[in-house]
Amino acid sequence: MFVQKPPMGWNSWNTFGGNINEQVILETADAIVEKGLDKVGYEYVVIDDCWCKKQRDPETGRLVADPEKFPHGMKYVADYIHAKGLKFGMYTCAGVTTCGGYPGSFGHEFLDAQTFADFEVDYLKVDYCAKPAMIEGSTLYLKMSMALRATGRDIVFSICNWGRHDVHNWARSVGGHLYRSTEDICDSYPLYMGIALGQEKNLVYSAPGCFNDLDMLTVGLAGEGLASTSQFSFIEYRTQFSIWSLFGSPLMLGCDVRKIDDETLALLKNEILIRINQDPDYRAPIKQKPIRIFMEGQAAYFRVLSDNEYAIGLFNLQDEEADVAIFFAELGITPDTGYGFELINAYTGKSEGVHDEFFQEHFAAHSSRIYLAKLVKKK
Ligand code: GLA
Repeated sequence: MFVQKPPMGWNSWNTFGGNINEQVILETADAIVEKGLDKVGYEYVVIDDCWCKKQRDPETGRLVADPEKFPHGMKYVADYIHAKGLKFGMYTCAGVTTCGGYPGSFGHEFLDAQTFADFEVDYLKVDYCAKPAMIEGSTLYLKMSMALRATGRDIVFSICNWGRHDVHNWARSVGGHLYRSTEDICDSYPLYMGIALGQEKNLVYSAPGCFNDLDMLTVGLAGEGLASTSQFSFIEYRTQFSIWSLFGSPLMLGCDVRKIDDETLALLKNEILIRINQDPDYRAPIKQKPIRIFMEGQAAYFRVLSDNEYAIGLFNLQDEEADVAIFFAELGITPDTGYGFELINAYTGKSEGVHDEFFQEHFAAHSSRIYLAKLVKKK
């Protein structure tokens, strides 16, 4: 199958960890639809680790859903999710056990792929714990990719080896559609910005078909759930969602969508940010070189979108307020061209006029702005 755009959906891990069950998953599917998240593109409902029994079925060797957590089995969950117009995702591990200590798929790839296909799974995340040393990770992922293809079912293949062995070099080749490029996220601004900024140099490897996955979002955790901390703010959440969008990462929600507040919901449904994230061309952003002394601690990006549009992202990475600027001359748009950029503020949807030479704004600590830019002839 061809995955044209970064996948969007929800994953159970950041909030629930191992405390998952049928009720949580079905209520989440309900909430995604009730809150209109499906309408803007969030479609995969992914059950992460800790869904199965500690032992495989002694007769068939298959993975079996934990009957306490999922009393009606996985096909029931799949049917419920599909009936809502959503898609169903699950989790396994390339190693002997999952990171949570449940049976892994090592040595069982073809049987497990068939089990997931029988569950009518549309997306499979494959983790990397307990990988035997004698075999290359890339070989294990290739094997699972072929096992999934052999089922004949369209299943998005999500590689999760935390960026090991330069995964950006081979994830696409082995049949991956997205690949985790870093260690696990947690809800701390320096940590998640470190994840994103650390992948700047690898974004050129992302393209339609296979995307660099910066991990599930922590936006909206607001102090609750496995990956939460007490250090969160809306401005920082907006910065996280902005950089995930600008960098073309898959957008997998990690919060409890049943409890999302209105301000966060509006952010996660922001039309311009999602449009930039889902741009069908996917061209990696260009980072502007820091040419002025005051540009330390700030980052400015420019992305070429399809249809004669551009995206601009400005970030104040500092712990105090500061000016952030982008110099259009550095992009080749000098006054003699007769052109300037009309900037539409992604957060407000409003035009901020036509600018040439440069654009500069004052930013709160850790804040960001994203603009949709149209190149227009000046009057
Ligand atoms: C690893 C992954 C996480 C999550 C857990 C589950 O740490 O990177 O995203 O899937 O395993 O145990």
